[in-house]
Amino acid sequence: MTDPTTHPADLRPETVAIVAGRPAHTPDQPLNVPVHLASTYVGGGDIAYGRYGNPSWTAFEDTLGALEGGRCVAFASGIAAVSAVLDLVPAGGRVVAPRHSYTGTVMQLDDRAAAGRLEVEYVDITDTAAVAAACAGAAMLWFESPTNPALEIADIPAVTAAAHAHGALVAVDNTFATPLLQQPLADGVDLVVHSATKYISGHSDVVMGAVVAADPAHADAITTRRSLGGAIPSALEAFLALRGLRTLPVRMERAQATAAELVARLTGHAALDEVRYPGFGAIISIVLRGGAASADALVDRTRLWIHATSLGGVESTFERRRRWPAEAPTIPEGLVRLSVGLEHVDDLYADLVGALDEVSGDAESRHPLT
Ligand SMILES: Cc1ncc(COP(=O)(O)O)c(C=O)c1O
Repeated sequence: MTDPTTHPADLRPETVAIVAGRPAHTPDQPLNVPVHLASTYVGGGDIAYGRYGNPSWTAFEDTLGALEGGRCVAFASGIAAVSAVLDLVPAGGRVVAPRHSYTGTVMQLDDRAAAGRLEVEYVDITDTAAVAAACAGAAMLWFESPTNPALEIADIPAVTAAAHAHGALVAVDNTFATPLLQQPLADGVDLVVHSATKYISGHSDVVMGAVVAADPAHADAITTRRSLGGAIPSALEAFLALRGLRTLPVRMERAQATAAELVARLTGHAALDEVRYPGFGAIISIVLRGGAASADALVDRTRLWIHATSLGGVESTFERRRRWPAEAPTIPEGLVRLSVGLEHVDDLYADLVGALDEVSGDAESRHPLT
């Protein structure tokens, strides 16, 4: 197996995504680490048991770790990775987190707070001074950037430095940006979390997560959480996630270009109050002028865009986020989060704008005087 630390630093991420996590280049070695279906291993080695390790996990971990610049630990899901990181908060410690975050993470924080295991303070992650002030006495600063689904951006180096000045651990969910567009560990962040279900796997056929740690001691602590908690990925899913990771650079490049073009074409459409785009990545949030009713009508009217939760697949999907009761009340009722896939931009635009035109026509016929 390749060791990510042996990759020369001059290799670009596109190359690292291809060369890391391979067996040695020796005769008759397969090019890819196969799916290792094994619950136990002959004693005396490093793995010992299937809950502690698996060569198919290791190949994935070496590759994602090399891209993020740290040591990676794979998990059964993104939320299992979130859970392992929150397990590092000491009993009663305070976590500072964005008020707009993935709902599952907010539910996890609220659940732990309700059980008295930690305290949580929600902040506007774009307000660097407020975040810095909230970090005084905190055990952990946790955030997403861009946030899901508001697409707000944090000043990662500044809030990280502020949190560290108060002795807090810093964890960033890098699911939306991926290590190709943003490497939080290089900005001083301690732990990066991924829902590998999304862009990393990229084909809507895997549920998996990962934590990448800058400090080997944190990676060991996270590995212990996995071994004790048992939230381990399957070998097949680790294999598929690595296969997805190999093509992430080309997928992201194409999806991002299409997203930017869609933003340019959609901005100013009569049915929309807002087109939110942070300037990178392939997630766009549009806010329909007609609120929830228009947004619900939109997601029913397209041929290519699939009404589905999750994101980051080759196929374009979208959903009205406030359909989930746990979504923050400050997210507009009419916000639809678009996950731009790899279809041709003209086909995606035609499908979406056709549905938007119909929706705005509907809105006029329902409210002819407004
Ligand atoms: C930003 C973000 N983080 C974490 C998760 C949780 O990941 P998973 O669904 O793989 O458990 C999600 C899922 O939607 C997400 O969007």
